[in-house]
Amino acid sequence: MAKRHLITSALPYANGPIHIGHLVGCLLPADTYNRYLKMMGEESLFVCGTDEHGVPITLKARKEGKTPQQVVDENHEIIKNALVNFGIEFDHFSRTTNKIHHETARDFFKVLLDNGSFNEEVSAQFYDEEAKQFLADRYIVGNCPNCDYDNAYGDQCERCGKSLSPNELINPKSALTGSAPVLKETKNWYLPLDKIQEEFLNEFIEGKKGQWRSTVYGQCMSWLKEGLKPRAMTRDLDWGVPVPADGAEGKVMYVWFDAPIGYISATKEVAGEQWKKWWLDQETELTHFLGKDNIVFHCLIFPAMLHQHGDFILPTNVPANEFLNLEGQKISTSRDHAIWLHDYNADFPNRRDELRYVLTSIMPETKDADFTWADYQAKVNNELVAILGNFINRVMVLTHKYFDGIIPEATLDPEIKQLLSSVKGINESMGRFNQREALGHFMDIARAGNAYLQNAQPWHLIKDEANLQQVKDCLFTCLHIVKEIGSYSRIFLPDSSNIIISMLNLQNYGHTLSAGHKIGAAQLLFNKVEDAEIDAQREKLVKKQKENKPKEKKAQKEMIQFDDFTKLDLRVGTITEAEKVEKADKLLKLTVDIGDESRTVVSGIAEHFKAEDIKGKQVTLLVNLAPRKLRGIESQGMILMAEDENGKLVFVNPDEAVSPGSGIS
Ligand code: MF3
Ligand code: ZN
Repeated sequence: MAKRHLITSALPYANGPIHIGHLVGCLLPADTYNRYLKMMGEESLFVCGTDEHGVPITLKARKEGKTPQQVVDENHEIIKNALVNFGIEFDHFSRTTNKIHHETARDFFKVLLDNGSFNEEVSAQFYDEEAKQFLADRYIVGNCPNCDYDNAYGDQCERCGKSLSPNELINPKSALTGSAPVLKETKNWYLPLDKIQEEFLNEFIEGKKGQWRSTVYGQCMSWLKEGLKPRAMTRDLDWGVPVPADGAEGKVMYVWFDAPIGYISATKEVAGEQWKKWWLDQETELTHFLGKDNIVFHCLIFPAMLHQHGDFILPTNVPANEFLNLEGQKISTSRDHAIWLHDYNADFPNRRDELRYVLTSIMPETKDADFTWADYQAKVNNELVAILGNFINRVMVLTHKYFDGIIPEATLDPEIKQLLSSVKGINESMGRFNQREALGHFMDIARAGNAYLQNAQPWHLIKDEANLQQVKDCLFTCLHIVKEIGSYSRIFLPDSSNIIISMLNLQNYGHTLSAGHKIGAAQLLFNKVEDAEIDAQREKLVKKQKENKPKEKKAQKEMIQFDDFTKLDLRVGTITEAEKVEKADKLLKLTVDIGDESRTVVSGIAEHFKAEDIKGKQVTLLVNLAPRKLRGIESQGMILMAEDENGKLVFVNPDEAVSPGSGIS
């Protein structure tokens, strides 16, 4: 083990509240890890805070008629309260608008500026003459050069997923005023990531092979393989940390430059001069928790910054999580398809451990996971109530009934003694950042306890005085299991841990349960989740979906003549092959049999269908659509799909199977 552990969780953006996706992605695993280390007697520090700069915050302020400062002040409070009320125990929760952060980020930038890390470059950037400001990539919308979607952003097309730069957009418009932006020259400071890759990052990442999660290592390698490009670390914007360079008036740091420095400023705020031991001493182990969309920033760009600066330690591990879906659909803040933490806190008072438990049990450590209320109910009722809670309750009740709550003189069952000393499985899994697995080992203790009690049947034994010692041994053993559960609950179920210790009437888990000690009264650990409760939650989600569905009815398109219609050559086809298009999340490459020939069609349905599930399906194909290239593949036609109000896609196909190539008119 390292000498000390510095733990970070990605700083949530202060442009909206926290939902279970943020929680399971990084805040919860970071908190769990911190609790684990502290329980093991390790020195650890868990820092986080709100990320308060960046374009989305200025956009939100503009939309709501507030200043950016007002927006972040409000959201900082909401986020912090929700997390603290949920029991996330930060050693410090800071904000990137604090003075100490601005100073730290400025000094950091200055060091890189002075040691020649940046390249200054003048380039033509889009400028909105009406709003009198340069437009960040997100502020520019236009037609996608790849799929012609008419609302693509200057950094990415949300329809086909292609990464874009604003000058690739066809018909670019300012998102602020709608006017056509003009190009204007401006100077920016670039970090030559291509060069830093050669000098440092290739080796740094290769050294993590087999140590970092394969998903994380794999994503890093794929960035490196494609080759990093120089990236501007400054922006023409009036919200952020001012750039401390000559000729940089009116410019601020790129939010992804200042935000990770927030980890350092938060440490300074809480540790004072001691911050140095956390960041400059090679014996500190730095672990970043985050979601997979943050990998490039924490595994490549921030380490590149730290390396260029010198003196700082680099992350030992970055156990990034994949995404969490909700009831089978992507969590979406704009459509309000989410479970907000402040809502959960209000709707489920005193049920924090339940959500922790369920989220940890489905933690998306290796692949995306899905949260459903049905699963929540099942896990709480069948595992927490029926196994863990029930076992502890029976042990408490029986001890009071047979021995007036006084621990009898007895010996620990040797098999259970063995079991309790082998719960190291938990430690081993935690050390590998496999919290799901660790939670499984933890529940195994309760399962073993239940089985042991069920098997020993003290309620039968007690009927015969001759068995008294056996009954004593049994409950003595069970109480030790309860204590072990309570002890490890500090990691996964902190509220329960406190209740268990008070039931056992102990000062802390370091104290032993010895004969003659009187335990406290039994207390309820978990309540069953009733059908009505989860029905209400599901209804809430459905209701929000309806409310957030675009209000206006789909307007009918302009009238056409029969001749226009007959221009469409529609035929029935059968999908014979389907595969994912590499590096395009949304695209599938399909081979469609239309009788006398086969067509290759690239279709943007990969998020709705798995390639292996749609082979053999009949579809409607528009066969005389002029071919277009998507991701270098020529698409020779278009498959007709129906889309419902929730964005669910289904194939439009014949009512009965017909031979491929059949015409449609
Ligand atoms: N605010 C970012 C997000 O929510 C995360 C910032 S992490 C930091 O995706 F390291 F930059 F702070
Ligand atoms: Zn596109």
